[in-house]
Amino acid sequence: MKKIAIMTAGGDCSGLNAAIKTVVCSAKNKGIDVVGILDGYKGFVEGYYTDLEKEDVFGIETMGGTILGSSNKECPFYYLVDKEKMIYQDLTEKGIDALKEMGVEGLVVVGGDGSLDSARVVNERGMPTVGIPKTIDNDMIASNPTIGFDTAIRNNVENIERLKSTASSHERIMVVEVMGRTSGYLALYTGMASDADVILLPEEDYDIDVVCKKAEEAVDEKRYAIIVTSEAAKEQGKDETILKIVDDSYEQKRYGGVSENLAKVIEEKTGIETRNVILGHLQRGGTTSHMDIINASLQANYALELLINNQHGHVVGIDGINLVKMEFPKTRGVRQLDINNNELIELAKNIGISFGV
Ligand code: F6P
Repeated sequence: MKKIAIMTAGGDCSGLNAAIKTVVCSAKNKGIDVVGILDGYKGFVEGYYTDLEKEDVFGIETMGGTILGSSNKECPFYYLVDKEKMIYQDLTEKGIDALKEMGVEGLVVVGGDGSLDSARVVNERGMPTVGIPKTIDNDMIASNPTIGFDTAIRNNVENIERLKSTASSHERIMVVEVMGRTSGYLALYTGMASDADVILLPEEDYDIDVVCKKAEEAVDEKRYAIIVTSEAAKEQGKDETILKIVDDSYEQKRYGGVSENLAKVIEEKTGIETRNVILGHLQRGGTTSHMDIINASLQANYALELLINNQHGHVVGIDGINLVKMEFPKTRGVRQLDINNNELIELAKNIGISFGV
Protein backbone atom coordinates (compact mmCIF):
# COMPACT_ATOMS: atom_id res chain seq x y z
CA MET A 1 0.00 0.00 0.00
CA LYS A 2 1.51 3.31 -1.12
CA LYS A 3 -1.19 5.90 -0.44
CA ILE A 4 -4.26 6.15 1.80
CA ALA A 5 -6.78 8.85 2.59
CA ILE A 6 -8.36 9.96 5.85
CA MET A 7 -11.57 11.86 6.50
CA THR A 8 -13.42 13.15 9.56
CA ALA A 9 -17.19 13.31 9.16
CA GLY A 10 -20.26 14.00 11.30
CA GLY A 11 -20.49 16.32 14.31
CA ASP A 12 -17.03 17.17 15.61
CA CYS A 13 -15.67 16.23 19.03
CA SER A 14 -12.34 16.20 20.81
CA GLY A 15 -10.05 13.33 19.83
CA LEU A 16 -10.42 13.61 16.05
CA ASN A 17 -7.06 15.35 15.68
CA ALA A 18 -5.36 12.68 17.78
CA ALA A 19 -6.71 10.05 15.38
CA ILE A 20 -5.52 12.04 12.35
CA LYS A 21 -2.06 12.48 13.87
CA THR A 22 -1.68 8.78 14.58
CA VAL A 23 -2.75 7.72 11.10
CA VAL A 24 -0.45 10.25 9.44
CA CYS A 25 2.65 9.58 11.57
CA SER A 26 2.20 5.83 11.62
CA ALA A 27 1.55 5.65 7.85
CA LYS A 28 4.46 7.94 6.99
CA ASN A 29 6.80 5.84 9.14
CA LYS A 30 5.75 2.85 7.02
CA GLY A 31 6.40 4.73 3.77
CA ILE A 32 2.70 5.32 3.03
CA ASP A 33 1.52 8.74 1.85
CA VAL A 34 -1.64 10.25 3.33
CA VAL A 35 -4.24 12.45 1.67
CA GLY A 36 -6.63 14.38 3.94
CA ILE A 37 -10.17 14.74 2.59
CA LEU A 38 -11.59 18.10 3.68
CA ASP A 39 -15.05 18.70 5.20
CA GLY A 40 -16.20 15.09 5.35
CA TYR A 41 -18.24 13.66 2.48
CA LYS A 42 -18.54 17.09 0.90
CA GLY A 43 -14.81 16.98 0.15
CA PHE A 44 -15.07 13.31 -0.83
CA VAL A 45 -17.63 14.11 -3.55
CA GLU A 46 -16.37 17.54 -4.60
CA GLY A 47 -12.69 16.60 -4.52
CA TYR A 48 -11.33 18.82 -1.74
CA TYR A 49 -8.04 17.34 -0.55
CA THR A 50 -4.77 18.21 1.11
CA ASP A 51 -1.56 16.21 1.35
CA LEU A 52 -0.73 15.46 4.96
CA GLU A 53 2.88 15.44 6.14
CA LYS A 54 4.16 14.76 9.64
CA GLU A 55 4.89 18.45 10.18
CA ASP A 56 1.19 19.22 9.53
CA VAL A 57 0.11 17.13 12.51
CA PHE A 58 2.71 17.77 15.19
CA GLY A 59 1.02 18.91 18.40
CA ILE A 60 -2.54 18.66 17.08
CA GLU A 61 -3.55 15.79 19.37
CA THR A 62 -4.59 18.11 22.19
CA MET A 63 -6.63 20.42 19.95
CA GLY A 64 -10.42 20.10 19.87
CA GLY A 65 -12.27 19.91 16.54
CA THR A 66 -10.61 18.58 13.38
CA ILE A 67 -7.93 20.13 11.17
CA LEU A 68 -9.66 18.50 8.19
CA GLY A 69 -13.08 20.06 8.84
CA SER A 70 -16.29 18.05 9.11
CA SER A 71 -19.95 18.09 8.21
CA ASN A 72 -22.91 16.21 9.65
CA LYS A 73 -25.03 16.56 6.51
CA GLU A 74 -23.61 15.19 3.25
CA CYS A 75 -24.12 11.56 2.27
CA PRO A 76 -22.26 10.35 -0.87
CA PHE A 77 -25.04 8.04 -2.08
CA TYR A 78 -27.77 10.62 -1.44
CA TYR A 79 -26.00 13.84 -2.30
CA LEU A 80 -27.89 17.11 -2.70
CA VAL A 81 -27.04 18.42 -6.19
CA ASP A 82 -29.84 20.96 -6.62
CA LYS A 83 -30.92 22.78 -3.46
CA GLU A 84 -33.89 24.56 -5.07
CA LYS A 85 -35.40 21.47 -6.68
CA MET A 86 -34.16 19.21 -3.86
CA ILE A 87 -32.56 16.74 -6.29
CA TYR A 88 -30.29 14.08 -4.79
CA GLN A 89 -27.82 11.82 -6.63
CA ASP A 90 -25.64 8.84 -5.78
CA LEU A 91 -22.10 10.25 -6.24
CA THR A 92 -20.21 7.54 -4.37
CA GLU A 93 -18.41 6.32 -7.52
CA LYS A 94 -17.37 9.88 -8.38
CA GLY A 95 -15.63 10.19 -4.99
CA ILE A 96 -14.03 6.74 -5.21
CA ASP A 97 -12.80 7.22 -8.80
CA ALA A 98 -11.19 10.55 -7.95
CA LEU A 99 -9.34 8.98 -5.02
CA LYS A 100 -8.23 6.02 -7.13
CA GLU A 101 -6.96 8.39 -9.83
CA MET A 102 -4.67 9.92 -7.20
CA GLY A 103 -3.39 6.47 -6.32
CA VAL A 104 -5.32 6.13 -3.04
CA GLU A 105 -5.70 2.45 -2.10
CA GLY A 106 -7.50 2.67 1.24
CA LEU A 107 -9.59 5.03 3.34
CA VAL A 108 -9.98 5.70 7.08
CA VAL A 109 -13.21 7.44 8.09
CA VAL A 110 -13.57 8.82 11.60
CA GLY A 111 -17.28 9.42 12.04
CA GLY A 112 -20.63 8.91 13.70
CA ASP A 113 -23.42 6.52 12.69
CA GLY A 114 -24.35 8.25 9.45
CA SER A 115 -20.75 8.76 8.34
CA LEU A 116 -19.80 5.16 9.06
CA ASP A 117 -22.88 3.93 7.23
CA SER A 118 -21.62 5.87 4.21
CA ALA A 119 -18.16 4.36 4.85
CA ARG A 120 -19.75 0.90 4.62
CA VAL A 121 -21.14 1.79 1.18
CA VAL A 122 -17.80 3.25 0.03
CA ASN A 123 -16.11 0.00 1.10
CA GLU A 124 -18.73 -2.14 -0.67
CA ARG A 125 -18.33 -0.12 -3.87
CA GLY A 126 -14.62 -0.82 -4.08
CA MET A 127 -12.56 1.55 -1.92
CA PRO A 128 -11.15 -0.48 0.99
CA THR A 129 -12.35 1.39 4.07
CA VAL A 130 -12.07 1.11 7.85
CA GLY A 131 -14.21 3.18 10.23
CA ILE A 132 -13.38 4.72 13.60
CA PRO A 133 -16.45 5.64 15.71
CA LYS A 134 -16.64 8.99 17.46
CA THR A 135 -19.36 10.83 19.36
CA ILE A 136 -19.74 12.64 22.65
CA ASP A 137 -23.03 10.72 23.04
CA ASN A 138 -21.27 7.34 23.56
CA ASP A 139 -24.22 5.71 21.82
CA MET A 140 -22.46 3.79 19.03
CA ILE A 141 -22.55 0.03 19.33
CA ALA A 142 -19.04 -0.43 17.93
CA SER A 143 -17.18 1.14 20.86
CA ASN A 144 -17.53 1.85 24.54
CA PRO A 145 -16.29 4.48 25.18
CA THR A 146 -16.42 6.42 21.94
CA ILE A 147 -13.91 9.13 21.10
CA GLY A 148 -15.08 12.50 22.46
CA PHE A 149 -17.16 11.16 25.36
CA ASP A 150 -14.48 11.63 28.03
CA THR A 151 -13.66 15.22 27.06
CA ALA A 152 -17.37 16.12 27.02
CA ILE A 153 -17.82 14.74 30.54
CA ARG A 154 -14.80 16.72 31.72
CA ASN A 155 -16.16 19.91 30.12
CA ASN A 156 -19.53 19.39 31.77
CA VAL A 157 -18.09 18.69 35.20
CA GLU A 158 -15.91 21.81 35.02
CA ASN A 159 -18.88 23.96 34.03
CA ILE A 160 -21.14 22.51 36.73
CA GLU A 161 -18.43 23.28 39.28
CA ARG A 162 -18.72 26.94 38.20
CA LEU A 163 -22.49 26.78 38.54
CA LYS A 164 -22.37 25.35 42.06
CA SER A 165 -20.77 28.45 43.57
CA THR A 166 -23.31 30.85 42.10
CA ALA A 167 -26.19 28.49 42.91
CA SER A 168 -25.03 28.23 46.52
CA SER A 169 -24.59 31.99 46.89
CA HIS A 170 -28.21 32.56 45.80
CA GLU A 171 -29.83 29.41 47.22
CA ARG A 172 -30.96 28.35 43.77
CA ILE A 173 -31.80 25.23 41.84
CA MET A 174 -29.78 24.86 38.62
CA VAL A 175 -31.14 22.75 35.80
CA VAL A 176 -28.20 21.85 33.57
CA GLU A 177 -29.03 20.46 30.14
CA VAL A 178 -26.53 18.20 28.41
CA MET A 179 -26.47 16.62 24.93
CA GLY A 180 -26.57 12.93 24.08
CA ARG A 181 -29.71 12.56 21.96
CA THR A 182 -31.78 9.54 23.01
CA SER A 183 -28.96 7.95 24.97
CA GLY A 184 -28.39 8.85 28.62
CA TYR A 185 -24.67 8.07 28.90
CA LEU A 186 -23.51 11.68 28.86
CA ALA A 187 -26.14 12.76 31.39
CA LEU A 188 -25.41 9.83 33.71
CA TYR A 189 -21.62 10.20 33.67
CA THR A 190 -21.84 14.00 33.93
CA GLY A 191 -24.27 13.80 36.84
CA MET A 192 -22.25 11.17 38.65
CA ALA A 193 -18.94 12.97 38.22
CA SER A 194 -20.36 16.34 39.27
CA ASP A 195 -22.30 15.16 42.32
CA ALA A 196 -25.70 16.11 40.93
CA ASP A 197 -28.79 15.77 43.11
CA VAL A 198 -31.01 14.61 40.26
CA ILE A 199 -30.16 13.03 36.89
CA LEU A 200 -32.87 12.85 34.24
CA LEU A 201 -32.33 10.26 31.53
CA PRO A 202 -34.07 9.80 28.17
CA GLU A 203 -34.43 6.10 28.95
CA GLU A 204 -36.81 6.72 31.89
CA ASP A 205 -39.53 9.39 32.02
CA TYR A 206 -39.49 11.38 35.25
CA ASP A 207 -42.13 12.33 37.80
CA ILE A 208 -41.95 16.11 38.29
CA ASP A 209 -43.07 15.90 41.94
CA VAL A 210 -40.25 13.50 42.80
CA VAL A 211 -37.76 15.83 41.08
CA CYS A 212 -39.06 18.85 43.01
CA LYS A 213 -39.01 17.06 46.37
CA LYS A 214 -35.41 15.97 45.90
CA ALA A 215 -34.36 19.48 44.80
CA GLU A 216 -36.05 21.07 47.84
CA GLU A 217 -34.28 18.64 50.17
CA ALA A 218 -30.93 19.42 48.56
CA VAL A 219 -31.44 23.18 48.91
CA ASP A 220 -32.39 22.71 52.60
CA GLU A 221 -29.28 20.64 53.14
CA LYS A 222 -26.60 22.58 51.25
CA ARG A 223 -28.21 25.78 49.84
CA TYR A 224 -28.35 24.60 46.21
CA ALA A 225 -29.46 21.78 43.97
CA ILE A 226 -28.02 20.56 40.68
CA ILE A 227 -30.33 18.77 38.26
CA VAL A 228 -28.57 17.31 35.23
CA THR A 229 -31.03 16.63 32.46
CA SER A 230 -30.44 14.93 29.15
CA GLU A 231 -31.65 17.03 26.21
CA ALA A 232 -34.13 14.23 25.38
CA ALA A 233 -35.45 13.56 28.90
CA LYS A 234 -39.18 13.97 29.34
CA GLU A 235 -41.83 14.01 32.01
CA GLN A 236 -44.10 11.00 32.36
CA GLY A 237 -47.00 11.36 29.92
CA LYS A 238 -45.39 14.24 27.99
CA ASP A 239 -43.75 14.48 24.55
CA GLU A 240 -40.06 15.05 23.84
CA THR A 241 -38.83 18.59 23.14
CA ILE A 242 -37.56 18.99 19.60
CA LEU A 243 -35.58 22.14 18.80
CA LYS A 244 -35.61 21.67 15.03
CA ILE A 245 -35.60 19.21 12.18
CA VAL A 246 -32.56 19.32 9.89
CA ASP A 247 -33.91 17.75 6.69
CA ASP A 248 -30.62 16.91 4.99
CA SER A 249 -29.05 15.28 8.05
CA TYR A 250 -28.80 11.55 8.83
CA GLU A 251 -30.15 12.20 12.34
CA GLN A 252 -32.81 14.75 11.50
CA LYS A 253 -34.03 15.62 14.99
CA ARG A 254 -32.15 18.23 17.00
CA TYR A 255 -32.99 18.27 20.68
CA GLY A 256 -32.50 21.26 22.95
CA GLY A 257 -34.41 23.52 25.29
CA VAL A 258 -35.92 20.93 27.60
CA SER A 259 -34.37 22.64 30.65
CA GLU A 260 -36.13 25.94 30.06
CA ASN A 261 -39.64 24.73 30.77
CA LEU A 262 -38.40 22.34 33.43
CA ALA A 263 -36.80 25.20 35.40
CA LYS A 264 -40.01 27.24 35.10
CA VAL A 265 -42.17 24.40 36.42
CA ILE A 266 -39.76 23.61 39.27
CA GLU A 267 -39.70 27.27 40.36
CA GLU A 268 -43.52 27.41 40.31
CA LYS A 269 -43.89 24.18 42.28
CA THR A 270 -41.13 24.72 44.87
CA GLY A 271 -41.07 28.50 45.21
CA ILE A 272 -37.27 28.26 45.01
CA GLU A 273 -35.50 30.42 42.43
CA THR A 274 -34.48 28.16 39.55
CA ARG A 275 -32.28 28.79 36.52
CA ASN A 276 -31.53 26.67 33.49
CA VAL A 277 -28.24 26.39 31.64
CA ILE A 278 -27.89 24.65 28.28
CA LEU A 279 -24.27 23.55 27.96
CA GLY A 280 -24.80 23.00 24.22
CA HIS A 281 -21.80 22.96 21.92
CA LEU A 282 -19.43 23.96 24.74
CA GLN A 283 -19.47 20.23 25.45
CA ARG A 284 -17.89 19.33 22.12
CA GLY A 285 -14.83 21.61 22.20
CA GLY A 286 -11.76 22.39 24.24
CA THR A 287 -8.47 20.68 24.88
CA THR A 288 -8.77 16.95 24.37
CA SER A 289 -8.68 14.84 27.53
CA HIS A 290 -5.87 12.34 28.05
CA MET A 291 -8.26 9.40 27.76
CA ASP A 292 -9.62 10.64 24.44
CA ILE A 293 -6.10 11.18 23.06
CA ILE A 294 -5.10 7.67 24.07
CA ASN A 295 -8.29 5.96 22.89
CA ALA A 296 -8.31 7.84 19.60
CA SER A 297 -4.64 7.03 18.99
CA LEU A 298 -5.12 3.32 19.79
CA GLN A 299 -8.10 3.01 17.49
CA ALA A 300 -6.45 4.98 14.69
CA ASN A 301 -3.38 2.76 14.86
CA TYR A 302 -5.57 -0.35 14.77
CA ALA A 303 -7.61 0.99 11.84
CA LEU A 304 -4.43 1.59 9.83
CA GLU A 305 -3.18 -1.89 10.68
CA LEU A 306 -6.45 -3.45 9.43
CA LEU A 307 -6.34 -1.42 6.23
CA ILE A 308 -2.74 -2.42 5.49
CA ASN A 309 -3.54 -6.09 6.19
CA ASN A 310 -6.48 -6.06 3.79
CA GLN A 311 -9.03 -6.38 6.61
CA HIS A 312 -11.19 -3.49 5.48
CA GLY A 313 -14.96 -3.36 5.90
CA HIS A 314 -14.63 -3.04 9.66
CA VAL A 315 -15.36 -0.47 12.32
CA VAL A 316 -12.79 -0.54 15.11
CA GLY A 317 -13.64 0.17 18.73
CA ILE A 318 -12.71 -0.16 22.38
CA ASP A 319 -14.43 -2.60 24.71
CA GLY A 320 -13.29 -1.63 28.18
CA ILE A 321 -9.55 -1.77 27.58
CA ASN A 322 -9.54 -4.19 24.65
CA LEU A 323 -9.43 -3.23 21.00
CA VAL A 324 -12.24 -4.86 19.03
CA LYS A 325 -13.71 -4.83 15.52
CA MET A 326 -17.00 -5.65 13.86
CA GLU A 327 -18.30 -5.62 10.31
CA PHE A 328 -19.95 -2.37 9.25
CA PRO A 329 -23.46 -2.60 10.69
CA LYS A 330 -26.20 -2.49 8.04
CA THR A 331 -28.78 -1.01 10.35
CA ARG A 332 -28.59 1.71 12.96
CA GLY A 333 -28.38 0.40 16.49
CA VAL A 334 -28.43 2.95 19.30
CA ARG A 335 -26.80 1.79 22.49
CA GLN A 336 -28.91 2.95 25.38
CA LEU A 337 -28.47 2.48 29.08
CA ASP A 338 -29.87 -0.71 30.56
CA ILE A 339 -31.43 1.15 33.46
CA ASN A 340 -32.30 -2.00 35.38
CA ASN A 341 -28.81 -3.40 35.11
CA ASN A 342 -26.23 -0.65 35.32
CA GLU A 343 -23.64 -0.45 38.08
CA LEU A 344 -23.27 3.31 37.86
CA ILE A 345 -27.01 3.88 38.24
CA GLU A 346 -27.00 1.57 41.28
CA LEU A 347 -24.03 3.42 42.74
CA ALA A 348 -25.70 6.78 42.11
CA LYS A 349 -28.82 5.59 43.93
CA ASN A 350 -26.72 4.26 46.80
CA ILE A 351 -25.17 7.67 47.38
CA GLY A 352 -28.55 9.40 47.24
CA ILE A 353 -28.81 10.66 43.66
CA SER A 354 -32.41 10.65 42.45
CA PHE A 355 -33.47 9.71 38.93
CA GLY A 356 -36.79 11.43 39.36
CA VAL A 357 -38.83 8.26 39.69
O1 F6P B 1 -24.42 13.58 18.17
C1 F6P B 1 -23.66 14.59 18.73
C2 F6P B 1 -24.47 15.78 19.10
O2 F6P B 1 -23.62 16.70 19.73
C3 F6P B 1 -25.69 15.47 19.97
O3 F6P B 1 -25.38 15.24 21.32
C4 F6P B 1 -26.54 16.70 19.73
O4 F6P B 1 -27.89 16.43 19.96
C5 F6P B 1 -26.27 17.00 18.28
O5 F6P B 1 -25.02 16.40 17.96
C6 F6P B 1 -26.21 18.46 17.91
O6 F6P B 1 -26.09 18.59 16.53
P1 F6P B 1 -25.72 19.93 15.80
O7 F6P B 1 -24.25 20.18 15.98
O8 F6P B 1 -26.08 19.68 14.37
O9 F6P B 1 -26.52 21.02 16.43
